[in-house]
Amino acid sequence: MCGIIAYLGTRPAKEVLLAGLAKLEYRGYDSAGLCFSDKNGLLSFKAVGPVKNLVKTIEGNDKYSLGIAHTRWATHGEPSEINAHPHFDCQHKIAIVHNGIIENHNALKEMLIKEGHKFVSATDSEVIAHLIEKFDEGNLESAFIKAINLLQGSFAVVAIQAGSRRLLATRRSSPLIIGVGKEEFFIASDVPAVLAYTNQVIYLQDNDFVSIDDSGYKIKTLAGKEIKRELEGVQMNLEEIEKGGFKHFMLKEIMEQPITLAQTIAGRVVNDKIKISLQIIPGSFDRIVMAACGTSWHSALIGKYLIEEIAGVRVEVDYASEFRYRQPLISSRDIFLAISQSGETADTLAALREAKAGGAQTAALVNIVGSTLAREVDSGIYLHAGPEIGVASTKAFSSQIAGLLIFALYLRQLSGASLDKGLLMELKNLPKAVEAVLAGADKIASLAQQFKKTNNFLFLGRGLNFPVALEGALKLKEISYIHAEGYPAAEIKHGPIALIDEDMPVLFIATKNLLSDKILSNMAEVKARQGKIIAVVDRDFQDIAALADHLLVVPSVHPLLAPIINNIPLQLLAYYIADARGLDVDRPRNLAKSVTVE
Ligand code: AGP
Ligand code: GLU
Repeated sequence: MCGIIAYLGTRPAKEVLLAGLAKLEYRGYDSAGLCFSDKNGLLSFKAVGPVKNLVKTIEGNDKYSLGIAHTRWATHGEPSEINAHPHFDCQHKIAIVHNGIIENHNALKEMLIKEGHKFVSATDSEVIAHLIEKFDEGNLESAFIKAINLLQGSFAVVAIQAGSRRLLATRRSSPLIIGVGKEEFFIASDVPAVLAYTNQVIYLQDNDFVSIDDSGYKIKTLAGKEIKRELEGVQMNLEEIEKGGFKHFMLKEIMEQPITLAQTIAGRVVNDKIKISLQIIPGSFDRIVMAACGTSWHSALIGKYLIEEIAGVRVEVDYASEFRYRQPLISSRDIFLAISQSGETADTLAALREAKAGGAQTAALVNIVGSTLAREVDSGIYLHAGPEIGVASTKAFSSQIAGLLIFALYLRQLSGASLDKGLLMELKNLPKAVEAVLAGADKIASLAQQFKKTNNFLFLGRGLNFPVALEGALKLKEISYIHAEGYPAAEIKHGPIALIDEDMPVLFIATKNLLSDKILSNMAEVKARQGKIIAVVDRDFQDIAALADHLLVVPSVHPLLAPIINNIPLQLLAYYIADARGLDVDRPRNLAKSVTVE
């Protein structure tokens, strides 16, 4: 996720590019850069941090009317000036900006280095500029298309060349639009960047190739066939557009989980093998110790089930805030795995430092590239889930579980054991199953109306569904302020059942797993006390239907993938109940997105 804006027209490009970047910062903001072009060549500026740091570096330079700009959300190569976009060829004649992940960048970089190309950044994106240079024999369009045809992964790319008054662009799985003004043209990741100048936009489709010069724009397929794309008038206002047309960032982030899960998995399951950049030596450890907070602690609990079941390695999970103050028995025979969306949570960082002091090997599962946590561990797995703006974590949780599953499979592979090909296939198809769950959002929205006035909620699950119950309760309480608790379903008879009456909604996660039959008796116990039952099921389980007041049916997936699927109705239920209560879903009271204090 990043923000791209490019301009060719009659105004000073500087004002358009900087204003456009500011409107796109919600898409990524760890560094920014831009490049002007005129007959004398290219002139570029870059800065780490928010766009305002880039603004400070550019005095004057209003004479340029052609340029490209980028605000970065790093995936490969930490946030730094050298890794900020635009990236250049060896001759510094071609500049590109890129949004997405080039999955085959290592192989392409190796090939280009063998041909004498010198790389300066640690990013995946830089290969694009060198590929265009490799194929450039005087026709930039043809060179651009040859380069793009070698790329695997997700990308929106815009390119310029010194001395050539032209913009070239294409997209695959990352958004890109053209804005059409009066004798001026814009290319951007999203509409907010161009709305101040035009509301006439073209939403490019995958593999559209665009060439823009002062005479206008041409759209072709990558095979060179001219195509027509509709020019549309945008009616939404700026705030709506930044949220992708959704009412809240949280809903946008719930709905983009098929894409973000695909990004987490991309390039990590190749030819039925796990490919991740962890530096763990087989036989060098006896145990995995995980520490995290909040939602990340819930994913760690799920990780325990996954790693013990798949890799046969002992796992301990701690709240980071508890781990750091007890005397943890930790040694070099332990791998300490920290889990954190932000990579800045004070308790988790402190736990990591405790583990390092004990001699443990350290790793992290983190979303923000270059975050403190990412920089302090020996090695890690980035979620690639893009910026999570809503305070309540949703897409990051799903990506954490996918990342933990990949980690568990990696440990199994390290031991020399074979991997379950069926599970790998289902993992790669998981985004499709998530889409199927999200298609049922309206039903959950209407169900939420029945519970918007409730004061309590219980979430119950067994086995892998127990941490999902905890997560469902946390989601609801933190955005709707309803008191909610998660329990292992069998535990209710040890106390919580005293709470059950006709005013106590109880949500059971009752998808098939080893313990499905047991959960039926727990449901019967609740029913016998007039509890209102909502059941998440993955097939028309008649006996569950006889007990439940409401059924939420999800696709049936491999039991080890079920937590991701089963959690989505709970995210939606919490969101719609909070919205029905008229609350500020993205910024719930008393909470912060990243708790950087203890
Ligand atoms: C989750 O919805 C909450 N916002 C909170 O519990 C969060 O998971 C916790 O603060 C940990 O944050 P981290 O993943 O960035 O470390
Ligand atoms: N993968 C590229 C990088 O890490 C682009 C990331 C983005 O979309 O901002 O620089």
